[in-house]
Amino acid sequence: MDPVINPYRPGAGRRPPLLAGREPLLAGFDIIRRRAEQFGEGDRSWVLNGLRGVGKTALLNELLGQVSGHGWITAKVEAGASAPLPMALSQALIRGLRTATGRHPEPGLRRLLGVFKAFSVKIDPTGALTLGVDVEAIRGVADSGRFAEDLTALFDVLGETARDLSVGVLLLIDELQEATLDELTALNMAVHHHGQADTPLPLAFVGAGLPSLPAQLAEATSYAERLYDYRPIGLLDQQASRDALIVPAKQREIEWTPQGLAAATAAGGGYPYFLQAIGKHVWDNARRSPITLDDVDIGLADARREVDDGLYRSRWERATRAQRDLLRAVGRIGGAEPAAVADVAKLMGKPRTSDISVARNELIKKGLLYAPERGLLAFTVPGMHDFIDRQP
Ligand SMILES: Nc1ncnc2c1ncn2[C@@H]1O[C@H](COP(=O)(O)OP(=O)(O)OP(=O)(O)O)[C@@H](O)[C@H]1O
Ligand SMILES: [Mg+2]
Repeated sequence: MDPVINPYRPGAGRRPPLLAGREPLLAGFDIIRRRAEQFGEGDRSWVLNGLRGVGKTALLNELLGQVSGHGWITAKVEAGASAPLPMALSQALIRGLRTATGRHPEPGLRRLLGVFKAFSVKIDPTGALTLGVDVEAIRGVADSGRFAEDLTALFDVLGETARDLSVGVLLLIDELQEATLDELTALNMAVHHHGQADTPLPLAFVGAGLPSLPAQLAEATSYAERLYDYRPIGLLDQQASRDALIVPAKQREIEWTPQGLAAATAAGGGYPYFLQAIGKHVWDNARRSPITLDDVDIGLADARREVDDGLYRSRWERATRAQRDLLRAVGRIGGAEPAAVADVAKLMGKPRTSDISVARNELIKKGLLYAPERGLLAFTVPGMHDFIDRQP
């Protein structure tokens, strides 16, 4: 069928045609938004944690979309991408404040802009970051040069300003597992302080990252376990998987046969990235509506190839021979579930678990494995064990 109107979007961070199965989470966020706007009150910050390709970035973008039509002050950052977190946050806030100055009367923003100017100058003394607004820096509030303190003070001024304007602030950090321990500590301290007011300011922070993120946050400060509202982002259930495939097609007046849909859903295994790839290739290979089981069989092969090449193979090829042996053993023992390190070592014929710790640590550093709990290992990408099984 016409690839020009193909609705499916496999890839990274691409907005899916339908954000299937995430309605409860979005409804929860809508309550946060309305409380902020109506009562000037903030809620607990969120952490979205989940495997690669389950839709964390898509969700962050959706949250951004929900508030940006409402005049909120927003900033979205990716940790570890290029700049240190304070710098990246500063840059993103500059964009957010620029938008805000176009939306809100300037007197309401003056104090925030002044405090932010001093904050950003401290972070980047070369002045590469500029607000583009003529404002006097307000010194002594968020410019100590200690990120934790300054971030805390900045959160206050951001929240106060938003409350006065009857909007909220939304700060999003993606790939938060890449932040340094110091950065995570600073963030925890600022979020902690923010939550202690009698009426917390209407500032919402949402961090997203791999399943290891909650443990990393807790390692930074032990109270992090209670600080955040952790929202694990998992695979889609049957109904959501079906919706992800049929709703976008229906919008273009294309139907799926029940057999075709059942086969595609089963193959997708609830994995959002794979479902998008299946949808895309099945569509491109199908001749006409309704999409049949034959169309699915043909499209599925292409989808599998795309996902193998785009996701699994590069990871597999980054592993050394010894690391591959370990990956294979983790897959044999755990499959899609975590495997006990002790069992993995035994299967590999190693007397002690410490015998595999070098390979284990390297694979964690490369982002192929993570430790969901002490003594366990699991893949960061759903379906990796299947791919490994298919390797010679
Ligand atoms: N709820 C959903 N329903 C249907 N498709 C989705 C859903 N969420 C995400 N997708 C699709 O899945 C793919 C991966 O999404 P995304 O990049 O947001 O995942 P991620 O969790 O951020 O991955 P990573 O950890 O690699 O950054 C994209 O093609 C996106 O369009
Ligand atoms: Mg992402």
